[in-house]
Amino acid sequence: MPWGSLAAAKIPANFAMRAAGVWTRMAYFEYRAAVGITMAIDALLAARAPVDLVAVGSRFIQDELSHAELCARVAAELGGAAPMAFPSRMVAIPPQRLRPIMRAADLVTRVFCLGEAFSLPMAHAAAKKKAPPLVAAVLRRIAKDESEHGSFGWIFLDWAADQFSDEDRAYLSGLVKDALGAYRDLIAEQIPSDEGTLGWMTAEEFRHHAEMTLENDLIAPLAARGLYASSQTI
Ligand SMILES: [Fe+2]
Ligand SMILES: [Fe+2]
Repeated sequence: MPWGSLAAAKIPANFAMRAAGVWTRMAYFEYRAAVGITMAIDALLAARAPVDLVAVGSRFIQDELSHAELCARVAAELGGAAPMAFPSRMVAIPPQRLRPIMRAADLVTRVFCLGEAFSLPMAHAAAKKKAPPLVAAVLRRIAKDESEHGSFGWIFLDWAADQFSDEDRAYLSGLVKDALGAYRDLIAEQIPSDEGTLGWMTAEEFRHHAEMTLENDLIAPLAARGLYASSQTI
């Protein structure tokens, strides 16, 4: 990684401050992914999921923490992390009433099928943008690691499929509906701007890639597993 190259570049102070804010939030999202995956791994072990599958997933925690470090170092080169509120609970705990397999399904669906499966194509799209060498190298590294994370949730759902009742599927479909609604809100909130970016997508690019990702990488595999009804209003 060409560390130091961004700090040495002559970036206007206002833009550097804005960019530091974006990279601080990116570091937080990576950190939150590490928390979510840790919780999912814990639930998978309690549900006695195949140990080889859990072993693969557990390696992702280290990936996410290293992504958080990379993003934080980029923010540092831009002048330092921006202040942000740090929530006491980053990832919701599944309801206690659920049996172990459904607690695992709740977390894996939210963290992987709705989270990581969304991040993967978005990370690849971001990595294709023209950016200064350090930003490009960090984005490429993140996109490369995310490739494995994106498919993990579907492997779990296929393994667990015959343990789900109709009621279980209805519960998971409810999670799916809420998360897709939140993504639609996020897309609608994008405000077009002609300001430059430093490794993140413009509002138009975000909308374009997010809509494609929702259709192809979330809704299609969820529908194939009976967790999305086409009549569902998102
Ligand atoms: Fe990541
Ligand atoms: Fe990831």
